[in-house]
Amino acid sequence: YEIYLNGMSGAVPRLPTDLTRLEELTEQRLGPGPVGYVAGSAGDGSTARANRAALRRHRIMPRMLRDVHERDLSVEVLGRALPAPLALAPIGVLSIMHPDAECAAARAAAAQGVPFTLSSASSTPMEQVAEAMGDAERWFQLYWPKDPEVARSFLSRAKAAGFSTLVVTLDTPMLAWRPRDLDQAYLPFLHGVGTANYFSDPAFQAGLAKPVHEDPNAAVMHFVGMFSDPAKTWPDLAFLREHWDGPIVLKGILHPDDARAAADAGMDGIVVSNHGGRQVAGSIGAAAALPRVVEAVGDRLTVLFDSGVRTGDDIFKALALGAKAVLVGRPYAYGLGLDGQAGVEHVIRCLLAELDLTLALSGHAGPTTLGPADLIEETA
Ligand code: FNR
Repeated sequence: YEIYLNGMSGAVPRLPTDLTRLEELTEQRLGPGPVGYVAGSAGDGSTARANRAALRRHRIMPRMLRDVHERDLSVEVLGRALPAPLALAPIGVLSIMHPDAECAAARAAAAQGVPFTLSSASSTPMEQVAEAMGDAERWFQLYWPKDPEVARSFLSRAKAAGFSTLVVTLDTPMLAWRPRDLDQAYLPFLHGVGTANYFSDPAFQAGLAKPVHEDPNAAVMHFVGMFSDPAKTWPDLAFLREHWDGPIVLKGILHPDDARAAADAGMDGIVVSNHGGRQVAGSIGAAAALPRVVEAVGDRLTVLFDSGVRTGDDIFKALALGAKAVLVGRPYAYGLGLDGQAGVEHVIRCLLAELDLTLALSGHAGPTTLGPADLIEETA
């Protein structure tokens, strides 16, 4: 309520509380290259637009005269109590936004009590990010490397560094056609950004003819060639189960049959996501995919959601459609670009304050009472 009370008393916040304005402000600050990379999406951007449209199509049906004077945002996700149904999504290469990169974002998440998901393609080695977080809840996102030794090494490093949950991203067997990056010739990876976990990894180093510092270009090409593996299929998941003893969540599920396959493979959760519209152009909006996935597997594993969340009411809607928590991506990257750790904290606090108010004004004392009956879908 601090942000709310400050605003009511005439104190203008350093960053806007309308998070949809952050992209424009970050572009003014950092220029078109980095912001183009973060804002960009696949093809003509139709999937990113579909994400927003799919959330907007659902409208909240508020209820009155329900006691909402005491409220509690906490939820249980993957066997853990979380103070709110929100986590930060994995975003690689955050050093293009701010020199403190992942450490600043991770500290912000820790300070606000929401889990931080560290990307495999982070600009900071996982051990350093873990150290910045103390014992706060952290998840490790895996781009499944072609070399099984590197995969194994990543999993054991992540475990040793206290990451509780493995988030395996399936929608990126390769990078998509992203015209904005292609036209600006802006691809951070080609400059070695996002390689910190790889370059610091003994199994990765063992695959190089020369050490990274002697031939950085060869190291970057080795990374590009192995960062993901388009040959993987469902039976390969057994490898992850064998080498990771905590919860495993598959990120990038949209089809109910894939959700069933995840449950059949004994996975603990899925993230219904289209990577913020950055992979398949012309894809279904993630929120449009959510109800069918929840219907297929909602009672068998934990369903999480991301892609297009910008407001508290977006979170309300995803939860009402059956997600247990949501991940947010671009808004916190912009917050980081604008004001480092404080900017990320601002984004988290705005989202949670707005969620809390939306719940209260709609007759809910917390997220756990939400269900499909709280929404109506506009068909026009
Ligand atoms: C991503 N995303 C992503 N996902 C992942 O699993 N590993 C990664 O390294 C990245 N990197 C990444 C970089 C940038 C710049 C963006 C914008 C996104 C996808 C991310 O985790 C998430 O799915 C989306 O960002 C969610 O959509 P919104 O909230 O950005 O609309």
